[in-house]
Amino acid sequence: MSVHPSASAASPAARPALSLPRLREMSARGEKIAMLTCYDATFARVLDAAGVDALLVGDSLGNVVQGQPSTLPVSLSHMAYHTECVARANTAAWLIADLPFGCYEASPQQAFDAAVTLMRAGARMVKLEGGGALAETVRFLVDRGIPVCAHLGLTPQRVFALGGFRVQGRDEAAAAALRADAAAMAAAGAAMLVLELVPAALAREISQAHPQMMTIGIGAGAGTAGQVLVLHDLLGLTPGRRPRFVRDFTREPGSAPEAPGLTIAAAVARYVHDVKAGVFPDEAVHAF
Ligand code: KIV
Repeated sequence: MSVHPSASAASPAARPALSLPRLREMSARGEKIAMLTCYDATFARVLDAAGVDALLVGDSLGNVVQGQPSTLPVSLSHMAYHTECVARANTAAWLIADLPFGCYEASPQQAFDAAVTLMRAGARMVKLEGGGALAETVRFLVDRGIPVCAHLGLTPQRVFALGGFRVQGRDEAAAAALRADAAAMAAAGAAMLVLELVPAALAREISQAHPQMMTIGIGAGAGTAGQVLVLHDLLGLTPGRRPRFVRDFTREPGSAPEAPGLTIAAAVARYVHDVKAGVFPDEAVHAF
């Protein structure tokens, strides 16, 4: 039986594996964390080799892989399957998997059982959406050795409750609630926090208030410890109007539409470079 070369080739990535202490060290010395979503082995190999620090098996796979209108139909078995695919090809990047809608909100025990499934599939950390109401759950997981990334701001699993994909924390009451949720997640032991569609000044303030909880922004300005994008957005593959916080990294900024684009590997390497150099996001263009 022949083995497809892309399945057997040794990864060119010779860097040491990213761990929580290494990510914390990077963050403490001001090096930005470059994270991307990833859903399969081929992209995991490319992203890992391009030096992406953290791969997120996001439940955005519901949108970009399954063609669903939201992340709500994504199940725990879908997440475990894609986490296994990514884990097989990844050598060094820190691997995070989303707890999907309906699998963690009811009780700490329910969240623990779902997190065990994802950790056994190869995740090193699980992500969940929500604030203070989930503090007990976060503490329960952390006390049992499961690193947790919280997710605040625009939380796509709550899109119907939030009334759409819109910037969160704009008025003072909403900003105060977001600050309180972030403090609750930090106190519960969350090691990371994704801040999605949050005004840049608020994201910067939360990042500075909780340096032990590495903040990763998406549409949250440049003041977070790192950045994440949905891979398909970065590659310019998402149809429709491009959200303001997204940049198509296959195109040189300002290049003519007919100019040849970068390869996927080069576009991902450019993203890593631009995040670390503080060039992306440009708050004048990508922030709220
Ligand atoms: O599921 C996902 O891709 C995410 C990112 C947008 C942070 O949660």
